[in-house]
Amino acid sequence: ENLVMGSEVVAHSWKPVLDLSSVMVSGRRLVMVNIWYDPWMIELEVRKKALLKKPLVAELPEEAQTPGPRPYEKMATIDDVLPLMTLKGKRVYVREDYNVPLEEGQTKEDLRIRETVKFVEWLSQQGARVILMSHLGRPIDEWASRPQEWGKITQENSMDPAAERLSELLGQKVVSVKGSQSPIDSRVTEAIRELKPGEVLVTPNIRFDSGEEANNPAFVRALFRLDDPQAEADLYVNDAAATAHRAHASTGPSELVLVRSDGKRVPRVAGPLLKKEAKILADFLNAVEKRPQGGRLVMHQGGAKVSDKLGFIEGMMPRMRDGDAILVDGQMAY
Ligand code: 3PG
Repeated sequence: ENLVMGSEVVAHSWKPVLDLSSVMVSGRRLVMVNIWYDPWMIELEVRKKALLKKPLVAELPEEAQTPGPRPYEKMATIDDVLPLMTLKGKRVYVREDYNVPLEEGQTKEDLRIRETVKFVEWLSQQGARVILMSHLGRPIDEWASRPQEWGKITQENSMDPAAERLSELLGQKVVSVKGSQSPIDSRVTEAIRELKPGEVLVTPNIRFDSGEEANNPAFVRALFRLDDPQAEADLYVNDAAATAHRAHASTGPSELVLVRSDGKRVPRVAGPLLKKEAKILADFLNAVEKRPQGGRLVMHQGGAKVSDKLGFIEGMMPRMRDGDAILVDGQMAY
């Protein structure tokens, strides 16, 4: 019944991954699940079935313990954990989406940052130690196309401008480890250890490490500092609505891996922006399903990230009736 965590040899994201953490013992058998390209998270499902015979912690509401999609009303949020823990002094790791356009080292458009201010401010006022994580662009893809510049931090992929803008908006200092090439850098760990209640830190771009997109268990443990009692997560909040569909380490850390050094599982909850977005989508789907006979549905799709939008169109197809339409423009159209 034990998950045998092995060491891992992880190459870059486009190379095969030898994932020894997927070795497990089931009954008297040693089972190795070895999937190199696993966008459907089959490996996680297999592990859950084989290993999750009973929940690791009993205190959390059932919704918070059960992974996978659920109606937005049942999304576990920070309100569910407040009766169980006080945030004062706790390390709250929050996945934000600070993927904002930059120009000459400054944020050009800061809506995504502004939207988070209220929640970050509230966490800080509660006395939490707030650790914010985000990606900015796709640095590994960019480095792959320019291998001679591998790992080079440029103005385009640095998190520092976002941290500076957040600091201005919050009206308080925001800690960031300038020039760090990794969100799991020991200097970042040191800064997290030193955070005082109410202080806020932004980690380096979460995509500086290929473990993020691979959702690599060893990376998850390092990111949430799960073997370090002075820096490890007490609570994980996903408030990155525009990135929540990615099964990455910081957006979908496995509950089997998110276990603290004292053996307790880190509660995983949705933040207010994610909940709001989920409600908008749920209301939309509800309105589509309940529309009267003859009511016509016309959807409009544009933008650049075509593959994500195809998923949306596929999801809408079974809900469409004769006479409904999807208007496609922007990069989607060619
Ligand atoms: C976005 O801007 O769409 C989100 O931040 C997600 O970015 P990604 O498509 O690079 O994952």
